[in-house]
Amino acid sequence: MKKLAIAIDGPAGAGKSSVSKLLAKALGYTYLDTGAMYRAVTYEVMKKGLTDKGEIAHMAEGLNMEVAPGEESMHVLIDGEDITACLRTPEVSARVSEIAAIGGVRTAMVTLQRKIACKGGIILDGRDIGTVVLPDADLKIFLTASVKKRAERRFEEFRSKYPDIRLDEVEKEIETRDWKDSHREVSPLRPAEDAVLVDNSDITLEETAQLLMGMAEKKE
Ligand code: C5P
Repeated sequence: MKKLAIAIDGPAGAGKSSVSKLLAKALGYTYLDTGAMYRAVTYEVMKKGLTDKGEIAHMAEGLNMEVAPGEESMHVLIDGEDITACLRTPEVSARVSEIAAIGGVRTAMVTLQRKIACKGGIILDGRDIGTVVLPDADLKIFLTASVKKRAERRFEEFRSKYPDIRLDEVEKEIETRDWKDSHREVSPLRPAEDAVLVDNSDITLEETAQLLMGMAEKKE
């Protein structure tokens, strides 16, 4: 059977990472969470207190970043140190779109993503996978859902860790990030021309994975 390269793009909270993990497990594929890579760059920018875009791009180009599969989520290591637990915080979420809009940061991450993806048997989730990173992917999905539904999912995911979190704030954060991601100059979030649009507002993430599994099987 052919080892596919699958691209899953879409806005925040559409369930891309949960669905990608289920699909990767079912197919025996590797899963690459490209959002975690931009979050890792953002974390390093904050840790080092960088403000200049040129310096940020230079730092991203020289970053010793490794990724490794994990039970819950993909792990990101910088200089051998696992920083995964620091990546999905409200502070990083608030800054990541600004850092991911810097051209030099994107070039560095896309180079690494293509290197990891070149063997096939891989699922990448992100914002520009079908349009920029893997324009020749075997299957391209643009996964979305209503902003209300996406906010509810994020709220459920975070409420045990952040008891003070509010649904309206989560919705606002998602809308702001989506606006920034789809209006930036370099590689904005948009569906590839040959992507299959999937709205999963009214189906579960397991059902979404089943649907995508059927599409992947037809391509193998
Ligand atoms: O997927 P996740 O929500 O963790 O992504 C965090 C951020 O990283 C996005 O809001 C976006 O700014 C950036 N990103 C990107 N391109 C990708 C993946 C993520 O610009 N391929």
